[in-house]
Amino acid sequence: MDKILVTGGLGFIGSHTVVELQNEGFEVVIIDDLSNSSISVLDGITSITGKKPVFEKLDLKDKAGVDVFFNTHNDIKGVIHFAASKAVGESVEKPLLYYENNINTLVYLLKQLEQLPTASFIFSSSCTVYGQADKLPITENAPVKQAESPYGNTKQIGEEIIRDTCKVTPNLKAIALRYFNPVGAHESANIGELPIGVPQNLVPFITQTGIGLREQLSVFGDDYPTPDGTCIRDYIHVVDLAKAHVVALKRLLENKNKANYETFNLGTGKGSSVLEVVKAFERVSGKTLNYKIVGRREGDIISAYADTTKANEELGWETKLTLDDAMRSAWKWEQKIRS
Ligand code: WQD
Repeated sequence: MDKILVTGGLGFIGSHTVVELQNEGFEVVIIDDLSNSSISVLDGITSITGKKPVFEKLDLKDKAGVDVFFNTHNDIKGVIHFAASKAVGESVEKPLLYYENNINTLVYLLKQLEQLPTASFIFSSSCTVYGQADKLPITENAPVKQAESPYGNTKQIGEEIIRDTCKVTPNLKAIALRYFNPVGAHESANIGELPIGVPQNLVPFITQTGIGLREQLSVFGDDYPTPDGTCIRDYIHVVDLAKAHVVALKRLLENKNKANYETFNLGTGKGSSVLEVVKAFERVSGKTLNYKIVGRREGDIISAYADTTKANEELGWETKLTLDDAMRSAWKWEQKIRS
């Protein structure tokens, strides 16, 4: 079976995608610099699939190291590229770190793929490229708006670099997957989200509050023009998201793509408010969550949820897991890692 490189494969979405690739029989090689992940995730993956992926600790900024890697693994047929910095707030304070780590490394990676006989490239993008969309649900044709942060800009620029390169590189084809909000964990609780320090994202902050690691959840504003006043997002279970990566990769490997560069929104198609997520946690955990309403967070958009028609029809993929499934698995994972 084809050998697939997963960069950032020990990260949250990366590790869940490695599991699904192995479940489908692919040979997986992981590159990760461990800057935002832990080597223990390799054991977590192995404990689920029974197959230990090949792992190489490598920072994609290390061009010599990347050269050696591709000289060794010149039989790679596909790449799923997760490795990038992804903290919105940090990107505002350190833009050059984000352009160096997310853009320079992408360019060098693509230069390696140009040398391969053929390469299928899956790019980890984000609904953040849409900003606050004018129309909901959001389709892939929605206009890409001025990025709200250097992080979001690196996703927009990344997509354009890949699109322009595929246009003139016959042996390279690519799909950009625009994630909405990935949440949850593998049902085994052997892998899950491992935020470093104080979580920026809602769900890990909720589960850490539930376990007592955090005193109280701050809900950033309840004066938005939404039914309950809190922001709305499309929370997609990370396992559904991981399966979409395998389906997209197979589309390219089996030459079923309709263009050399395509984009797909990956969400549930359903919006949930912050307070609805809190209630889902309380439902699945049986606990009452300690939270308070505070002021709005700078840069938050009001509402975003996906129109999933294109992914449903073209990829033949749809989400199977619910918000409750996601909260249940996130809670099970939190309890396990704190036990
Ligand atoms: C969701 C909602 C917050 C924390 C970000 C990135 C996006 C992607 C996913 C990488 C918002 C509210 C949150 C808290 C809260 N990352 N919230 N209290 O901002 O939609 O997306 O993560 O690709 O690019 O922008 O996700 O989980 O941070 O926030 O009230 O302690 O929860 O205001 O309404 P977001 P989030």
